[in-house]
Amino acid sequence: MNFELTEEQLAVQQAAREFAQTELLPGVIERDETQTFPLEQVKKMGELGFLGMMVDPKYNGGGMDTISYVLAMEEISKIDASASVCMSVNNSLVCWGIEKYGTEEQKEKYLKPLATGEKIGAFCLSEPEAGSDATSQQTTAEDRGDHYLLNGTKNWITNGNTASVYLVVAQTDREKGHKGINCLIVEKGMEGFVVGKKENKLGIRGSDTHSLMFTDVKVPKENRIGDDGFGFKFAMSTLNGGRIGIASQALGIASGAYELALAYSKERKAFGKPISQHQAIQFKLADMATEIEAARLLCFKAAHLKDQKKDFGKAGAMAKLFASKVAMDTTIEAVQIHGGYGYVKEYHVERLMRDAKITQIYEGTSEIQKIVISRELLK
Ligand code: CAA
Repeated sequence: MNFELTEEQLAVQQAAREFAQTELLPGVIERDETQTFPLEQVKKMGELGFLGMMVDPKYNGGGMDTISYVLAMEEISKIDASASVCMSVNNSLVCWGIEKYGTEEQKEKYLKPLATGEKIGAFCLSEPEAGSDATSQQTTAEDRGDHYLLNGTKNWITNGNTASVYLVVAQTDREKGHKGINCLIVEKGMEGFVVGKKENKLGIRGSDTHSLMFTDVKVPKENRIGDDGFGFKFAMSTLNGGRIGIASQALGIASGAYELALAYSKERKAFGKPISQHQAIQFKLADMATEIEAARLLCFKAAHLKDQKKDFGKAGAMAKLFASKVAMDTTIEAVQIHGGYGYVKEYHVERLMRDAKITQIYEGTSEIQKIVISRELLK
């Protein structure tokens, strides 16, 4: 077992840190307040290779390992979790899904521009009445010979308006249950596809979350991913990897809040000395640092298993379950350490606290992670 990062991994970490500090930090408070998507910054992330990090270079990707992806996600999430959720969905749900299960034509047409950020992707599984219970798809993809007729509504879709390539999960044959579900690649501009309202959210307010409506959208058969009926397995298998991305996002939110609290505790004086010299604060910092380190190791473990092409479903679920709790706990303590200043926007920690909550909800709630983990334990 080797706990050292390679030179390449350290370089990726450094590049992501610099990018986050110079490009994402300015304006992050205003973007949160005005719910503005960091479009220019995301374009630059694409140019720097952060949107297709693990994609094979023959499809314009960075050909990097998953550990590098965890490192970059952590650094970007420390500063702007709205940018990092866009990055996570594009990398680990959309690019990975098409690269792993798509046809050569789909990779040429869709993966190549997605890997460079020329196009942004969205993953469309959740519906008004199918969140955790993902097999209850009400969106239908009726088989019409050479195409599917897509009808239905998707909810809470990350990159909903910014994306131009959408992986849409829909029911083709209800009698077959989850084996009658397909995943179709839908392009923005297809007739009958409308982007709905933007959500006004508690956290990650700069991210672009929309509902989507499909009315008799004709999707060519060649846009189906995998065999007929593979859509649910596709979604589950893709989410296994997505959860490593969200675990890393949670890790970054936690470590960002910790770094701010540590620095503040050395500056702020109370009772004649910096608050970092009071044991009440020291114990908080010790707990935060220990939990963050444990979350980081779980992320690395899941990423390592994925890179070794071993089963990583349980490890990814454990990483997400744990890191998202650490994000919540750490950000609450970071606000506490900042006292009154923690409750106002200029000090960033209140935003990180609001951003942390979603990591316990999307890409499978913490309760769903426990289902995934316990099923593996009881196999
Ligand atoms: N990996 C691979 N395959 C899996 C799997 C996994 N983690 N979980 C289930 N499957 C397979 C099963 O093996 C089964 O296949 P077979 O019948 O061939 O054996 C099939 O899928 C159906 O599985 P279940 O019978 O276990 O299905 P279920 O109805 O009991 O549900 C569940 C399982 C784990 C609860 C699943 O519904 C689930 O993960 N729900 C959460 C959905 C979710 O994460 N949504 C996130 C939305 S995307 C998002 O948030 C993106 C964003 O914008 C940030």
